[in-house]
Amino acid sequence: MAARGVGLLTRLPLCVQRSPVQRPVRRLLSYPGTVAADLRREEQPAGSAETGSEDRTPKKRFCEVQSERREQAQRTVLIHCPSKISEKRFLKYLSQHGPINNHFFYESFGLYAVVEFHQKESVASLQSVTRTPSLGAEAAIPFRSRYFSLKLKNPSNQTSGQPSVQCSNQSSPASRKLFDLLCCAENVDDQLNTLTKELQLTEENTRLRHLTCSLIEDVAAAYFPDCAIRPFGSSVNSFGKLGCDLDMFLDLDDIGKFSAHKASGNFLMEFQVKNVPSERIASQKILSVIGECLDHFGPGCVGVQKILNARCPLVRFSHQASGFQCDLTTNNRIALRSSELLYIYGALDSRVRALVFTVRCWARAHSLTSSIPGAWITNFSLTIMVIFFLQRRSPPILPTLDYLKTLADAEDKCIIEGHNCTFVRDLNKIKPSGNTETLELLLKEFFEYFGNFAFNKNSINIRQGKEQNKPESSPLHIQNPFETSLNISKNVSQSQLQKFVDLARESAWILHQEDKGRPSPSGNQPWGLAALLLPSVANGVSLAKKKKPASERIKNLLESIKSGPENSTNTNGKRAASPQS
Ligand code: GTP
Ligand code: MG
Repeated sequence: MAARGVGLLTRLPLCVQRSPVQRPVRRLLSYPGTVAADLRREEQPAGSAETGSEDRTPKKRFCEVQSERREQAQRTVLIHCPSKISEKRFLKYLSQHGPINNHFFYESFGLYAVVEFHQKESVASLQSVTRTPSLGAEAAIPFRSRYFSLKLKNPSNQTSGQPSVQCSNQSSPASRKLFDLLCCAENVDDQLNTLTKELQLTEENTRLRHLTCSLIEDVAAAYFPDCAIRPFGSSVNSFGKLGCDLDMFLDLDDIGKFSAHKASGNFLMEFQVKNVPSERIASQKILSVIGECLDHFGPGCVGVQKILNARCPLVRFSHQASGFQCDLTTNNRIALRSSELLYIYGALDSRVRALVFTVRCWARAHSLTSSIPGAWITNFSLTIMVIFFLQRRSPPILPTLDYLKTLADAEDKCIIEGHNCTFVRDLNKIKPSGNTETLELLLKEFFEYFGNFAFNKNSINIRQGKEQNKPESSPLHIQNPFETSLNISKNVSQSQLQKFVDLARESAWILHQEDKGRPSPSGNQPWGLAALLLPSVANGVSLAKKKKPASERIKNLLESIKSGPENSTNTNGKRAASPQS
């Protein structure tokens, strides 16, 4: 579950060629009439969650979105295709098994197609005419999955004169392209929205993530027929970036549930089960066999590692066909609940996602986060810090978790392992904020806020939306929203925290300097967000080729600027609220 991402804009030349930038061609999904919802989603402005955050249509609950996605994935198949294929003939061939709702192609060491049938029965029909390959000297382990390989009976006949299919992109744009897009933006707000739009998970990538979970569920179902494999983390919380890992957990909670409801009369029937000393040991045993099963029989699952002695035991593997690095855990309901909470925060106001994407990207570009576990800050912690900062604005942009709890009704009540995880699940019950601050101002104030935060004595707490005294001595204390006695950033060292603070101050300083004499967007200097994403302190190169004073001096200078008359208004023309107020 480590943070992952591209090393963004690292070591790019400072001189920007302002060549016209081609916007990426969005891959269209097939079959008109069945994909309207998907196309509408594609048209949404950057910053809206899967439900659409700024339109007036009622927003779907997280659980509704997840169960729709799961059901959709169960009707979907993954097909490895020959490199040159006629799309028309391919669809005609598959339509023999039933109508197709939509499909797309992508490349990942070969050409793949994701095909969603209208009915589940079509998948069974396709499986019934599919054979197990004979591999000559090697032996194939027969396994009837929904991951197929399509062969051409007569390759020359099929491909002659056929254009190759259009492929959907599954990776983030190249640094150079992103850099150009940022430099061509109209203002800093536009830059933040562009960054979000370019890096966020696409509709196709989201489908592929749910399909991958569904394919793993088929393997796990060999042992536990009523299980579910549920994605959590950034794949579903609306903060996922193309290329992020796929966190999933094996949910066994529904097994044996329904018999309890149906119990009547004088008898109660229970399954004979094996007992083990603790939940942890149960998880380790279950993950051990599922890990073996994925390793030996799971088509496309490679590099399976069983990391069973970790605080949260897991099986890590690569799903070759989708290219996802997967982390499988068991019964991780609290993490799923955290994902739902972040999804709600992300959907409440479009500025939330733009700011979170930007801060995550900024942190990655300056090596504050890493794909390797260690003493660095994680993306999850950064997201909580942004939410906390937005709760501290005046008026607040986001409500506290305690407030979301007061809006909950009886059916929202949720206690997991003794922890109260209750909050309102219906987004439509939460009133939008009256705060109209620009993204540019918020970004600048975020850096200032955390550049000056009293980390030595205060804890970050999104439940109450205010700083609290630190209950223990870790350099960075961010209260776990549900397991409130835990610190989600316990791993962060003093030196990593100091690096974060120094970079935050430096970035606030750059944005203040730019305010005074912004480089013209038509010039050849990286400006705004593009300047902030260039490496700086780490290799001694100035962010915007400006000589900057050291961290403590920046802090003092920022304070004097803030108290000076020229900076008494914000970019809305309103007086800026003190972040500490
Ligand atoms: P990426 O870096 O894009 O993968 O972000 P992510 O949010 O998916 O983070 P990660 O893969 O590290 O963790 C997946 C999920 O596990 C998070 O979204 C949280 O819900 C949960 N999680 C991660 N770290 C912690 C932690 O320290 N404490 C708790 N309680 N939950 C955590
Ligand atoms: Mg993750």
